[in-house]
Amino acid sequence: MNSERTLVIVKPDGVQRRLIGEILTRIERKGYVISSMKTMKIEKALAEKHYHEHENQPFYDDLISYITSGRVVVAVVTGEGCINGLRYLMGNTDPIKAPPGTIRGDFATNVTKNLIHGSDTLENAEREIALFFREEDLDI
Ligand code: RTP
Ligand code: MG
Repeated sequence: MNSERTLVIVKPDGVQRRLIGEILTRIERKGYVISSMKTMKIEKALAEKHYHEHENQPFYDDLISYITSGRVVVAVVTGEGCINGLRYLMGNTDPIKAPPGTIRGDFATNVTKNLIHGSDTLENAEREIALFFREEDLDI
């Protein structure tokens, strides 16, 4: 499989709970590369663009207020098959259904406050990376 790139966000609960290192360590130990990274507070308009596919979901308002509630870490992660591979490392959206050994399974209990975002498709990865980074800053 060719090298891919994906967008990872350590969500506000991950930053507040001092889990940035734990989460990034797991991503690196898997063999992926953290190619670009920054911390930021996501503004409402950017959160709405990022999660626009969920705008009609009942959990949408909670999701937007949660993801804008505190600082996050945003990273471009690269590696062979990393889009799906990261989703396996994250575990199910609902941490109750995420097995031990996954990030959500080991550290989360709440379906909203589930610590980490990872792009779910190649198309969304490219769309999301372009929302958070300028291509000339990526060099990959
Ligand atoms: P993400 O996009 O953040 O990586 O998460 P995901 O693919 O595993 O889950 P997705 O279906 O895309 O949902 C996005 C985020 O919305 C919140 N959510 N809450 N209350 C609920 O039923 C519910 N469902 C989803 C979570 O924060 C989820 O990660
Ligand atoms: Mg998603």
